[in-house]
Amino acid sequence: MTDAVQTPHVGQTRFTPRVFSGIQPSGGLTLGNYLGALKRFVQKQDEGIETIYCLVDLHAITTWQDPEKLRQQTREAAAGFIAAGIDPTRSILFNQSQVSAHAELGWVFNCVARLGWMNRMTQFKDKAGKNAENVSLGLYAYPSLMAADILLYHATQVPVGEDQKQHVELTRDIAAKFNHDYKVDFFPLTEPVIQGVATRVMSLRDGSKKMSKSDPSDQSRINLTDDADTIAAKFRKAKTDAGVLPDLPEALADRPEARNLVNIYAALADQSVEEVLAEYAGRGFGAFKPALVDLAVAKLAPISTEMKRLMDDPAEIDRILGDGANRADAIAQPILAKTLEIVGMIRSRR
Ligand code: TYM
Repeated sequence: MTDAVQTPHVGQTRFTPRVFSGIQPSGGLTLGNYLGALKRFVQKQDEGIETIYCLVDLHAITTWQDPEKLRQQTREAAAGFIAAGIDPTRSILFNQSQVSAHAELGWVFNCVARLGWMNRMTQFKDKAGKNAENVSLGLYAYPSLMAADILLYHATQVPVGEDQKQHVELTRDIAAKFNHDYKVDFFPLTEPVIQGVATRVMSLRDGSKKMSKSDPSDQSRINLTDDADTIAAKFRKAKTDAGVLPDLPEALADRPEARNLVNIYAALADQSVEEVLAEYAGRGFGAFKPALVDLAVAKLAPISTEMKRLMDDPAEIDRILGDGANRADAIAQPILAKTLEIVGMIRSRR
């Protein structure tokens, strides 16, 4: 730690727009991952910005993963990305552990991040719960590795769901402290991109809980691998209330299940909540649910069909991830090398 004098040039460098984001292959992808993250990844790719997307397998092992299942889930998640519209020739798509610079920069950031900052991470508190003495050190340190994932590419934008906002803010704190302590303007202050109506998709069984791959009830979520019949059945059984849909979004504030289904509809239809309500106000779920079922099946079933097709050729998926890792590594290595030089490490290997 250097003295408290603010380095005058920090924050003035212009960084080229670059998008990075990641998803843990610690289970199947859900509708939450799709609407909160993947669909947005595709939009960023189609805006023509440089986009780098990562299956963060090093994050996945912060909780126990069966090795064979982890490999399978990583391939399946890669298939999900491609089926959802990520083009591995336009975006870089890879699995994190194939680019060792993530772990190396992660270590440097473990030495920048403060314990007090880590102790404030609400996701760790939620995940560790009463069991905090017994979870891995990796689970505690993971937000610092996430900062490394992002800053290793000097990414300026990170599309994520609402639950990752605090981790992206920590990433900014780590970048600012590194820049300040070493009197450089090396890492950008990355912006979280949390936009749209589905930044927090809730469980289909309990509108107060986030839709999650770790929920014990499969009925609580739509998996991207669910076929048309399963998608339809889950939405038909989704918890609702007895009311009719209101005219205004504010009137959904105390109706979590209704609000969640309207948000899902809006996100799938690329409409605003106002537009959805303009069509369905005054009507109950007897009318709304069949429309939601049709829309969800039309949008999601083709993704699961395409995932199955891609999963028939695992060698091709591995080839795509390997190619992506080579391209990611080419960006990451010079940034890691410069970081280590700034920190004061001897770099004399030829
Ligand atoms: P993960 O794997 O839990 O989730 C991946 C992405 O999906 C979003 N998401 C949701 N969005 C809306 N509603 C939901 N119910 C929902 N569930 C998940 C998450 O917000 C996230 O955007 N730490 C990260 C992975 C990560 C990462 C990164 C992300 C590692 N390094 C660097 C961005 C940049 C995580 O565990 O996400």
